[in-house]
This record gives sequence, structure tokens and C-alpha cells, in this order.
Amino acid sequence: MDIVKNIHEVREKVGAARRQGKRIGFVPTMGYLHEGHLSLVRESAKSTQYQVMSIFVNRIQFNDPKDFASYPKDLERDFDLARSAGVDLMFVPDEGEMYRDNLTYVDVKTLTDNLCGAHRPGHFRGVFTVVSKLFNIVQPDISVFGQKDIQQVVSIQKMTRDLDFPIEIVIAPIIRENDGLAMSSRNKHLNSDQRNRALSINRSIRKAESMIMAGERRVPVIRAEIEKVLMEGSPESVDYISAVRFSDLSLCETIDGRSVIAVAAFFGSTRLIDNMIIDFANGGPRCVY
Ligand code: PAF
Repeated sequence: MDIVKNIHEVREKVGAARRQGKRIGFVPTMGYLHEGHLSLVRESAKSTQYQVMSIFVNRIQFNDPKDFASYPKDLERDFDLARSAGVDLMFVPDEGEMYRDNLTYVDVKTLTDNLCGAHRPGHFRGVFTVVSKLFNIVQPDISVFGQKDIQQVVSIQKMTRDLDFPIEIVIAPIIRENDGLAMSSRNKHLNSDQRNRALSINRSIRKAESMIMAGERRVPVIRAEIEKVLMEGSPESVDYISAVRFSDLSLCETIDGRSVIAVAAFFGSTRLIDNMIIDFANGGPRCVY
């Protein structure tokens, strides 16, 4: 695995791979890698022959400076994990390399009005700006993002179409610990009591699945049950329990087309998110979480 810090080195290496006829896959990350990130690389390798990963803790997407300062880091461990997952090129720019005297930002309107967008002002603008820059630097054929950050990936799909990036955006499944907790770099901040209580998020989503499979379609009814189960874990606070249409992430009152039920709650000072896609294709509903 080559490890590079400069944009021109990425362009050289990716250009060389392309000249060998390889398709380029790209997984952007903020590091502190876990099995979820590695699964994105494996997904990418199904249809591409050269895997690029970036690790950059993107200050401009953090609406809380404390969250940025405490974001977990362990680059040496990340390099070992990335190497073992088959990453060919690791890009680890510093802030000067990425932003210099940046005056340009990218935004995606309306798709960021609900869910995390409503609770983290400026967050998605930071995400879309850095992802656009990384897309221009790496110029991959495909880029893989996890379902866990559902608003991020749906909005990036739209941004990619709107800005004519010739890149396919792939959504990979949520990877969970054995007990159901969705993997996240932030899980490291949970103490054992908080981690235990946080399992109520996954339980609440499974409760919604059982209601939908039994025919319930009314969002207020499903929402009330999710809240009941989530509260069993005594979260410090709940940002949202929402149902949205998959296509435009607008809030919905009935689950009658491809939809997403998403939850965000704090356990201790750690904000956790989780979600489930409800699909009606091929005689559904089918709940994917
Ligand atoms: O999902 C993340 O880790 C980040 O939002 C991303 C896409 C790497 C942009 O900084």
C-alpha cells in the first residue's frame, strides 16, 4: 500500500493504475477504521481493481469543536487495517493540502432539511465540500458509502448527478457488532453502561420492522413504539425519530413507498445514529438495517 500526503502524488499513482487498464474505487474516511470501513473497500473491490482510501478528519463538517478535538485517531493501526483490506493507495492530506485559502463550498438544498441536517448546522456543507474536492483529486469510477449515514449518501448521490461527476455512488450495508450496535468510530467514546443502554437504538428499529411486517403503515404509531423502546435505554437526549421518503428525504406520515426510518440519540455525550430502509420492490416490504 502506498501512503501519500500530496494531491499530485495521488494523481500520479491513480493515473498509472488507469494506464494499466484498472478501474478505480474510492472510500473516503475520517480514520479510526473499523470493520464498517473495511467492508466498503471489499464492496468497491467487487467492480474495481485499484482501491484508494483517504483519511482526513474534516474540521469544517464538525459543528461542535469539542467533537472535532476528541475525534479518535490511530493512523498506524488504520494503515495496517487498510493494507489487510486490500487498499492500494492511502491518501492522508493535512489541512493545508486540502484547504489552503478555500472560498468555495458545496451545498445540496432540501435533502439536508430533515434528520441530521436539522440538528447539525453546517455539517453537510462541510461533507459535500470535502467529498467534491476528494472526487476531483482521486477521480474514481466508483465511490462507496455506508447506509448508516443514509442522509449523507443519498445527498452525495444527488450532488454527483447535479455536478456531473462521472462517478457511481454505491451504498453498502450497515455493519453491526454481534449485539446489534451499528459500528462507528465514535463508539470508542461510550463507557460500558452507555454502550449497553445504546443497544436500545437497534432494538427500537427492530420493533419498527416487526410492526411494518405485521402491516402497520402509520408513522405516528410506529414512531411512538420506537420512542418507547429507545427510552428503555435512557438516552441523555433524542435528536430525532423520523420517517422520510428515500428519494428526497422529505418527512412522511405513512410508509407506503421506499422509505427510511432513522434515529439519532445521545448516550453520554456521544451522538449515535441508526436507520432502516423499507423497500416495497419485488412484493416487499423488506426492511434493510
Ligand atoms: O462519513 C464520513 O466519514 C465523512 O463524512 C466523509 C464522507 C469521509 C467526509 O469527511
